[in-house]
Amino acid sequence: MTRWHRWPFGAVRAGGLFRGRAADLTGKVVIITGASSGIGRAAAHAFAREGACVVLVARRAERLRAVADALAEMGAAAWVMPADVTCDHDLEALVEHALGACGRIDILVNNAGLAFGGGHHALEPARLRRLVDTNVYGPCASRSSSCR
Ligand SMILES: NC(=O)c1ccc[n+]([C@@H]2O[C@H](COP(=O)([O-])OP(=O)(O)OC[C@H]3O[C@@H](n4cnc5c(N)ncnc54)[C@H](OP(=O)(O)O)[C@@H]3O)[C@@H](O)[C@H]2O)c1
Repeated sequence: MTRWHRWPFGAVRAGGLFRGRAADLTGKVVIITGASSGIGRAAAHAFAREGACVVLVARRAERLRAVADALAEMGAAAWVMPADVTCDHDLEALVEHALGACGRIDILVNNAGLAFGGGHHALEPARLRRLVDTNVYGPCASRSSSCR
């Protein structure tokens, strides 16, 4: 008899990885921060393939629009909502617009972030503050706003 276990990336069948669905995401409203590139953009495609409605968030609107265009070609529902996750006003507007456009928020992918580059430059006060604001304050504030 096959035994199944829950796993963060899907379902794991005893003896091997099963790349099947862990949950039905059809119609779920998913906010993805940092959706203009890298992991966030890939996550947007992955959620869209599963039938989710994705809200694309980052600072660079033109990059978000390119991601949304690609998703629209797949027939996916995608909204572009530029925001800086370190800015309270942007986050409040984001949640308001997402609720206005989609009616609810089911999932928040708190992905926006900056890499901590090496060398002494990483410890310059202005850079350090930007890193902490983006990687620590941003995700906490995004979660707090979305759960309100
Ligand atoms: N790639 C890896 O191997 C790796 C490993 C460990 C952890 N991570 C973490 O995983 C996350 C994504 O990594 P990635 O490689 O995909 O990075 P990436 O390609 O540089 O993407 C970062 C994303 O975050 C957005 N962003 C940055 N600051 C923002 C802000 N203040 N407000 C809103 N959006 C902001 C960027 O868009 P805009 O510039 O347009 O705002 C971009 O869409 C990051 O948090 C990174 O630190 C990555």
